[in-house]
Amino acid sequence: MVEAEIYLDAAATTPPRSEVIDVVVQVQQAVWANPSSLHVAGLKAAELLERSRWKLARRFVVSPEQLVVTSGATESVHLGLLGSAAALQPSRIVVSAVEHPAVLAASEQLKKQGWTIAVWPVDATGHIRLELMDQLLAPPTRLVSLIAAQSEVGTLQPVACVGKACRERGIVFHSDATQLIPQGCPQFNSLNVDLLSLSAHKFQGPRGIGLLIRRPTLAIQPLQSGGGQEFGLRSGTEPVALIAGMVEALSALPTFCPEYQSVPPGSGPNVRQQRDRLLQSLLKIPGFRLVGPDVNNRLPNHIAVLAGTDRGYPISARSMVRELAHRGVACSSGSACSSGKRIDSPILSAMGVAKPWRQSGLRFTLGPWLDDVALDLVPDVVNAAQRSLS
Ligand SMILES: Cc1ncc(COP(=O)(O)O)c(C=O)c1O
Repeated sequence: MVEAEIYLDAAATTPPRSEVIDVVVQVQQAVWANPSSLHVAGLKAAELLERSRWKLARRFVVSPEQLVVTSGATESVHLGLLGSAAALQPSRIVVSAVEHPAVLAASEQLKKQGWTIAVWPVDATGHIRLELMDQLLAPPTRLVSLIAAQSEVGTLQPVACVGKACRERGIVFHSDATQLIPQGCPQFNSLNVDLLSLSAHKFQGPRGIGLLIRRPTLAIQPLQSGGGQEFGLRSGTEPVALIAGMVEALSALPTFCPEYQSVPPGSGPNVRQQRDRLLQSLLKIPGFRLVGPDVNNRLPNHIAVLAGTDRGYPISARSMVRELAHRGVACSSGSACSSGKRIDSPILSAMGVAKPWRQSGLRFTLGPWLDDVALDLVPDVVNAAQRSLS
């Protein structure tokens, strides 16, 4: 039995860093006024908001006007896709087969507005099939959305390459970088995207705050109107404390340059080594196998395995997660759950994983809060959980 919980679910959310909590509390206490107010307290809030916006802009090497502060990636995805589509004639949107439900939901809304949806198939490792690029980017495609790093299986997609092809064809290109950013903050321009979505709570920032970053000349229609904040794109009084917390969280991230690095550096000095060591131990458990790409082509903090018995039968990952939770290890199952019913993972299905194994996807995602001693306990705990379910 592990005494304190070992938290291995970074892809779901991350514990906010203490510096982030301090900043949020301090700002909430001292700079709580509405930044649109003209009195001294309001001007102080406006000044902090402006400074925060500049810091965010500097981190992504964009101008402040390119940033729209949102409540998180779900909202960013919707504003990016629906807002840019509103400035286009309904035509075709292409989305990969391994997108987050937020992208699928936004695409479904576009369908009601006369758009058609084409799905970009992936191979067994979850990478989009690049040989289909010309076919999928041909007219009538006018909008493409590609997840930069897949949350369930950790696959990194060739965002800059697809972005270049979209630009040559005049196609608007959005990437959901929610899982990529925590592992390394890129320069916006290096990704060749028109729109980028992210959420602060995935990189030890506050919950309920995120960004949509856009190419300066891209036309977007707001989804909500009112006070005209965020350059008219997202009305509502700005959450100054959460924005300051997001700035603080971003400041701790390594920089990632996709032009010469295929895998981002990772969110802490040891995270990649810890991940590799844990993976090696997990793969020694008979019945466990890696799913998704190898360690050199996936998020540096990410492990996804298909859990089986030592006789080779699939184990329900949700049962494994519960068993592990009892034993002090927090991780996640890949397969989605809808109204209490277990359903196959659409991601594993798109990757061609055989049906009986699509409920066996187990995910361990690491972060800088972990220490080696605690992590070294995990393989034995997983082994015991497996035996109890075999
Ligand atoms: C890839 C990806 N996109 C979007 C989201 C949605 O983020 P949020 O719940 O912060 O809006 C998530 C969160 O799990 C995610 O992993």
